Amino acid sequence: MSRASTRVKSIPVNPHRLLISKAHDLKRRGVRVYDFTAGQPGLPPSMEALNYFMDRVRRDPFNHFRYMPTQGLLELREAISTDLKKYGGIDVPSDQILVTTGGAESLLITVWSLLDEGDAILLLDPSYSVYWDQAKFAGLRVETCTQSYETGFNPDPECIKEKLGSRAKAILFASPDNPTSRVISREVGETIMDVAREKKAWVIYDVAYKHLVYDGEHLWLEKYDPGLEYTVVCGSFSKDLAIPGGRLGYIYGPRDIIPDLVKVKSILGIVAPVPMQWLAYYYLTMGFKEKYLAEVLPVYRRRRDAAYESFKKLIPEARLHKPPASMYLFPDINPILGKLGLSDLDFTIKLAESKGVVMLPGSIFGEAGRGYLRITFVTMREDELVEGFKLLREFLEENKAL
Ligand SMILES: Cc1ncc(COP(=O)(O)O)c(C=O)c1O
Repeated sequence: MSRASTRVKSIPVNPHRLLISKAHDLKRRGVRVYDFTAGQPGLPPSMEALNYFMDRVRRDPFNHFRYMPTQGLLELREAISTDLKKYGGIDVPSDQILVTTGGAESLLITVWSLLDEGDAILLLDPSYSVYWDQAKFAGLRVETCTQSYETGFNPDPECIKEKLGSRAKAILFASPDNPTSRVISREVGETIMDVAREKKAWVIYDVAYKHLVYDGEHLWLEKYDPGLEYTVVCGSFSKDLAIPGGRLGYIYGPRDIIPDLVKVKSILGIVAPVPMQWLAYYYLTMGFKEKYLAEVLPVYRRRRDAAYESFKKLIPEARLHKPPASMYLFPDINPILGKLGLSDLDFTIKLAESKGVVMLPGSIFGEAGRGYLRITFVTMREDELVEGFKLLREFLEENKAL
């Protein structure tokens, strides 16, 4: 019997952890593991930026490791402001930016700052598993709009019109998305912004993957709210600077809510990791970011192409969109699961145990993700991706699922 608070006990243990520990166990037992579970960039951070950072730390360690004001290093906030102008053409002054301990914390701070216990939040289903847990942790009710395969994982604008502002005080969603990798369509994006403006609802926009776009471009939805009156954007350095373990993110939004966000950040942990703030500052201001993105994006795109082509060819029974962005294939394998009589979770466990191929079940991202798989394509070379999918095919043949 757990002795934890009711709040903590209300959060179910995520099967994600079960699969990750399964992958670790298998590796320890010497099994060749094809681990498709991580939301981790596939290449190390920019060596140039790291070398520059380490040199500066050696010269002035005190300054790189001291406490600093909760809102974050002014130089970094100014650099983020310049970066937003450069990539998005948007004007956000540095005093409307808060530096956080990663994108997940950006979301937590925003949700806690804007919503009260008992309020409803609108989530798209499926979506990033952390959203569901954070909503529960904050005592929120959850309304949903489905994002289905048929619409390229865009929600129905009619659902947004019906629920946002009337049934839910805020919408929280990502573009590019996890787990579906879709980029929100302009039509749906405009509907969200129009409805939010009209009904005075909050738009919490998670842009953790904004630089990982292979076809088309990122939709800078905050442009529809130029004075930033109802839009809060949550960003991360985990994916494009590739420092997920460094824990660094940021938030920008309406001027009047910044002191409240800062208050919550100070309660959660005083200030975001200061050495990482300096690293991000050098990354943004010394020309490292442009060079790094120019190096990694073609690699990720090649891996995306190889993953998509080989999965389509080897498992034609699945329905699969070519991901325009982000890091994940998200195939619908419901017909296959039907033949096997297995849930997506049981399927992923059996596959891991029998072939060392570890993938995530779509149901951990919401009811509408049931029967899908989330497969990371950025962390392995093309030949390894293909080998992993061949083993998946073998598993399906051996179990007479094809
Ligand atoms: C959609 C989305 N938002 C936010 C995050 C959080 O990233 P981090 O806390 O590492 O910055 C992730 C991580 O995978 C994500 O997929």
